[in-house]
Amino acid sequence: MKILAMSLAFLTLLASGPTARAADGDAGRGEEIYQRCVACHALAQNRVGPRHCGLFGRKAGTVKGYQYSAAMKKYAVTWDDAALDHFIENPLKVVPGTKMGYAGIKDPQERADLIAYLKKATSDPKTCD
Ligand code: HEC
Repeated sequence: MKILAMSLAFLTLLASGPTARAADGDAGRGEEIYQRCVACHALAQNRVGPRHCGLFGRKAGTVKGYQYSAAMKKYAVTWDDAALDHFIENPLKVVPGTKMGYAGIKDPQERADLIAYLKKATSDPKTCD
């Protein structure tokens, strides 16, 4: 438990660091933008898309029990602000062959808001076990 508490504190520290690209993101607005994702995703369960809990720091294509496309399994990134910003802008172009059939979010501020929300929501112990 102590280790868990310490890693949570560390993650919070990382999330609030001044170098984070989405530092100016508004998590409240991001929660509204996330409604575009819940057609396919949930935080805690695999649905059409993989669960989002634990997203930051996880390698692409590695949620257990989810059947990824070959393209996503091969996509060698660890999800962080920059990787998400890049992918969400144009998923089909960034990962050719992905089965995430979503055109992307072109507005950088909307992506920053979404990432600020995701950062909180995907590490919230109330939602994510
Ligand atoms: C039409 C359904 C759909 C929508 C809408 C959608 N996704 Fe996805 N998403 C998927 C699918 C399917 C995958 C698995 C892709 C693969 O295996 O190629 C995926 C994969 C991902 C991944 C990679 C996860 C991992 O475990 O590596 C991220 C990150 C992601 N989606 C974020 C989002 C965000 C943020 C939104 C909203 C802006 C969104 N998605 C909207 C279907 C969707």
